[in-house]
Amino acid sequence: MIKQTKAESIIKNMSLSEKIGQMTQLPPYIYIHNSEAVVYGTMRNLQLNETQIYTAGSVLGIGSPKEMIELQKKYLDNATHQIPLLFMADIIHGYKTIFPVPIALASSFNPDIARLVARISALEAYTSGIHIVFSPMCDLTRDPRWGRVVEGFGEDVLLTSSMSEAMVEGYTNFQKFGEGSVACCIKHFAGYGACEAGRDYNTVDISRLSLYRDYLPAYKKALDAGADMIMTSFNTLDGVPATINKFLLRDVLRELWLCKAITIADYDALNQVIEHGAAFDQMDAAYKGFKAGLDIEMASSVYMNMLEKHVNNGNIEESALDEVVKRIIDLKIKLGLFDNPYSGANIEKEKQICLSEEHLEASKKAALESVVMLENKQLLPLKGTEKIALIGPYANNRSLIGPWSWMGKDDIHLTLSEVFDKHLVFVSKKSVLSDYTKEEIEEIRSADVVILAIGEDASLSGEAHSRSDISLPNKQEDLYSFARSISKKLVTLIFAGRPLLLNKLSDSDALLYCWFLGSQSSEAIYDLCFGFANPSGKLPMSFPRNVGQIPIYYNHFNTGRPFNKASKNVYLSKYLDVKNEPLYPFGFGLSYCVFHYEDLKLSSYSITSKEKLDISVKITNKNNYRGFEVVQVYIRDYVAEIVRPIKELKKFKKVWFEGFESKVVDFELNIDDLSYLDDSGNSRCENGKFSVMVGTSSIDVLSEDFYFLIN
Ligand code: NOJ
Repeated sequence: MIKQTKAESIIKNMSLSEKIGQMTQLPPYIYIHNSEAVVYGTMRNLQLNETQIYTAGSVLGIGSPKEMIELQKKYLDNATHQIPLLFMADIIHGYKTIFPVPIALASSFNPDIARLVARISALEAYTSGIHIVFSPMCDLTRDPRWGRVVEGFGEDVLLTSSMSEAMVEGYTNFQKFGEGSVACCIKHFAGYGACEAGRDYNTVDISRLSLYRDYLPAYKKALDAGADMIMTSFNTLDGVPATINKFLLRDVLRELWLCKAITIADYDALNQVIEHGAAFDQMDAAYKGFKAGLDIEMASSVYMNMLEKHVNNGNIEESALDEVVKRIIDLKIKLGLFDNPYSGANIEKEKQICLSEEHLEASKKAALESVVMLENKQLLPLKGTEKIALIGPYANNRSLIGPWSWMGKDDIHLTLSEVFDKHLVFVSKKSVLSDYTKEEIEEIRSADVVILAIGEDASLSGEAHSRSDISLPNKQEDLYSFARSISKKLVTLIFAGRPLLLNKLSDSDALLYCWFLGSQSSEAIYDLCFGFANPSGKLPMSFPRNVGQIPIYYNHFNTGRPFNKASKNVYLSKYLDVKNEPLYPFGFGLSYCVFHYEDLKLSSYSITSKEKLDISVKITNKNNYRGFEVVQVYIRDYVAEIVRPIKELKKFKKVWFEGFESKVVDFELNIDDLSYLDDSGNSRCENGKFSVMVGTSSIDVLSEDFYFLIN
């Protein structure tokens, strides 16, 4: 006789409606009416009765450990089975200690930092009773109009994959970290970042080639790293909503990737397939969702109200449902809920560890590595003796932690003016030019340095916050021109959740792109401005010159008519009114060090598929500052059956340099790095000429060619 697993013996004693309940996630206020949890989105009338809500398998968002304990207790007192609820929550860039927003974190090009951020977020969330975090967002993003670029890791497949993988490891590494780990649910499967015109929830229409090559690898990496759940996206793919998309949920996830992760719809998304025009009604949506491979629905009651009928009339076999429920119960077992349904929730410990000194220090470390210095005309670092005027809407603004952190509080952190205090001769947060008085203008004029802190409010990025115009809002460009015209030296600090148009701002003496840096924003910016730390961030997205260039990304195809400045031919791929190149390219970011690259060496100028290619480059820091450099390795495969991009990031390393230090930095490429995915997701590699390019950004590289021969 085959021995039953623990999950199977639990399932054997469950009624059909109890099983279906496990496949439903509800918000906590359904149970606790004074819930502190901030629940995202509008809840429709779920039409659930008291018995049904005590069959649900999980809840979304919880206000505190106290609330978790109360809710779990109430649930178990009322549920007919004794299967504890799973508590899930959006922990995007920290629980109470807030870290840089993901797009900022990507600028660190440092997966170790991402791992640490996730580890601390997990520790804090765990003490609140959260078992599963909805993070990381693995969606590749090439369109800065989309508000959710703030939640992702940018335009490059390797960077997005590496950061996603590291975050999953940080959240979930039970074996390594033991107590205080959580499970994670990656999102949004798939292609959400490619919404047309950057408008959230809009149609996605990408080729299978781009899907396999650009969009899918990060989800795959994150799943391989140990993510137990995957959330579907709101968009359609090939005209079918991702939530009921069999190709994605069965063909790719289960068959191609052999993945056992639990699938969950995004908020109310199973219901919304009716709105999409892909199902007649909830009955149809329930059937399509289940058949496509959707395990759990979030914040809607399509399964709860309809699945039972499908089983009773024979459309869906109960054994198929059992398979899904087994996945869910298995996860509850893995997370220890049957041993302790309140696992993690600890009122005292939560108070003790959240926002601890150690966690804030880690937040500062992450912030220091996430800032990208875009300009520095020998102004920074400041000496400390300058008289500084600090102006602009962010001069003494507490809203620096960034969007989407429901437990993070702006008001407990320091403002720039509080941290820069002793250096300041003048502070004003006025953002409108005409509000400055004559006396104030004179004071600003007399300062040695003006620091202008401007940007885009945190509320202008995030879900459902797309913009068609990504220039600085509220006439801040006028404020910039004013500051430029009256300051002897000008440092511009930009806060934003997306790349903005910066053309006018590039004549700043120094320009720091700060994104939103979390709990230690002001402290980190202070250290960078005064040279207690050295900027090392690099751009994870190309910064366009205007909206018309979007989508703009470094790893594009060559086209049959590539633009060439030297050519007289007008029939080339270009615009009449703007350059092809972005204003600031992918991988770009300055340091106080001056790095000189030389001696790019390859171990061979022709390798076979069984051999690897060793690459080395000598890098010298030409001055006395100490700091990190992100060394980037790109390749180009000149000719293939399917055209390859003109450049693809294949490796990167963040390397520390002492003043005037030289180092030889090594990399290795093998057949996997030279292969590519075709439009069926198969890996291919072909003979031929390649280039390897090593440098400080996607455009500033040394390059050597080599040949690859399959044997
Ligand atoms: C909708 C968002 O798209 C998703 O990222 C989030 O995890 C869920 N709501 C739950 O809040």
